[in-house]
Amino acid sequence: MAVKILGTGSFLPEKRVTNDDLAQVMDTSDEWISSRTGIRARHISVEETTSSMAVKAAKIALEDAKIAPEELDHIFVATLSADHATPSTACQVQKGIGAENAVCMDLNAACSGFIFGLQTALAYAKAGMGKKMMIIGVETLSKLMDWKDRSTCVLFGDGAGCAIVEADETRKVMIDAGSKGNMGDVLTCEERHLNNLLVKDDSPMQQVAMNGQAVFKFAVRIIPKSIHKVLEAAEVSEEEIKYFVLHQANRRIIEAAAKRLKEPIEKFPINLDQCANTSSATVPILLDEMNKKGMLEPGDKIVLCGFGGGLTWGSVYLEW
Ligand code: UT7
Repeated sequence: MAVKILGTGSFLPEKRVTNDDLAQVMDTSDEWISSRTGIRARHISVEETTSSMAVKAAKIALEDAKIAPEELDHIFVATLSADHATPSTACQVQKGIGAENAVCMDLNAACSGFIFGLQTALAYAKAGMGKKMMIIGVETLSKLMDWKDRSTCVLFGDGAGCAIVEADETRKVMIDAGSKGNMGDVLTCEERHLNNLLVKDDSPMQQVAMNGQAVFKFAVRIIPKSIHKVLEAAEVSEEEIKYFVLHQANRRIIEAAAKRLKEPIEKFPINLDQCANTSSATVPILLDEMNKKGMLEPGDKIVLCGFGGGLTWGSVYLEW
């Protein structure tokens, strides 16, 4: 049993912030950001929340999939920036779209979140536990940034992407995933700390902090390794792959991966110039863009790959 994608959707907050806009409020420049990362702009929430963006992306995906919300049996939302600890973002999506028959849960695997969500849906399909499932990657990272740390805050943005899958026997899907908890401290963001009737700690929360070069080296090593693994398992060569849809963190990471895979950069779609890094949302936002532009035909072989905080990574080979 495998899955096929029935439809996709995405949503970006209206407010677009360019590198030049950032340079007006902090010591940075369009030259530094774009030459180091490829990023030129990002979307930042003013009124949107994690759940409101997820609901908007979900409604668009339902329309694209041409199914009714009641047909969904599961909603998996990958996020590290939920509005609430409970109810989960997935339950808020259920309420927002009227998917009354769905079982809903959130998962957090940082930038690999959407890939892990898709792999979860695949496992449910294989176990006979799910037929039509929705997977969302959504982040409001702007609320987790240290806006005084120019080395991180310029890299990230807000947004949501969604895919609806259906269990399907005719398609082939292969996965790879891994985690390296002992490297977790290279990319961190604190949740609420202990503060109760026995412990008083009103210190400010630690926002996103990153050793960029360590993440960069990890990404460049792990992406080709993970992609090779799924292609070997699928018995498909790199040349047969139409697109490698990679997590959008840095153009130089994508270029390095293309070089190591010995594949032309044209096979690696990029939208980080306009969206920056939206963590779990990058892959489904990009997939939706490709879908809407008509870049994908039935039967096309593609690979999705995510990597990031945890550290975590994952790849999925699938047929459109
Ligand atoms: O989803 C995964 C998330 N992780 C990532 O995307 C991280 C991957 N890593 C990267 O993308 C790169 O490592 C960065 C873009 C984060 C940094 O690029 P780099 O070439 O490794 O730069 P660097 O950290 O070595 O910094 C070089 C210089 C430093 O100045 P000095 O010490 O050489 O004088 C920084 O202070 O650039 C300075 N700098 C900046 N200058 C202008 C750091 N941030 C900025 C900035 N504007 N925004």
